[in-house]
Amino acid sequence: MLEYKHAAKLWNGKLVFTRVADHKTAQILRNLGSVRKENAKDLYSNKKCIVLDPQAKKPLTPKDCTSIDALIVGGLLGYEKPQGRTKTLISASSGFHTRHLGSLQLSIDGAVFVIKAICLGLNLKDIEIAKEIEIIHDSIHSTILPFGYPLIDDVPIITPGLVQYLNKK
Ligand SMILES: C[S@@+](CC[C@H](N)C(=O)[O-])C[C@H]1O[C@@H](n2cnc3c(N)ncnc32)[C@H](O)[C@@H]1O
Repeated sequence: MLEYKHAAKLWNGKLVFTRVADHKTAQILRNLGSVRKENAKDLYSNKKCIVLDPQAKKPLTPKDCTSIDALIVGGLLGYEKPQGRTKTLISASSGFHTRHLGSLQLSIDGAVFVIKAICLGLNLKDIEIAKEIEIIHDSIHSTILPFGYPLIDDVPIITPGLVQYLNKK
């Protein structure tokens, strides 16, 4: 939910959550964007879309953003070692074009942040991305998040509220 919240903020609520069957989940997500029961493949069957898939052959470019109806990001939480689920669950059967955002697995909102930067005109190669981040809890404990985190002036863009959530005892 924190990642979805951040993603919605980055795109000013211009987000569509697809394949939401559960009524309670739909009610919560409606505060962040539009909610649909259909999957993206059916909802956008006549539209030009790009699925952001780590296994895609080409990177997303600013030009891609100008010629499509929707950019599709998987609402999947990644395993430490990516298992290609964006491809098996979304892109392989969608018929849509695919693009990648570099070799590192990003969080959902991290991917949405990088997409926004590219759609604003930056090239992927000019976006700095840290290999992982470490959240220090106290002098003994820390949590390593083994995902790519975009950097702005050397500061990682971390999901708002995530550090507090991980620090909860
Ligand atoms: C946490 S990632 C899950 C990736 C999933 N574990 C896999 O192996 O495909 C959530 C979503 O962010 C997007 N994403 C994350 N990193 C990406 C990358 N390097 N290139 C393209 N899309 C990425 C994808 O749409 C993906 O479904």
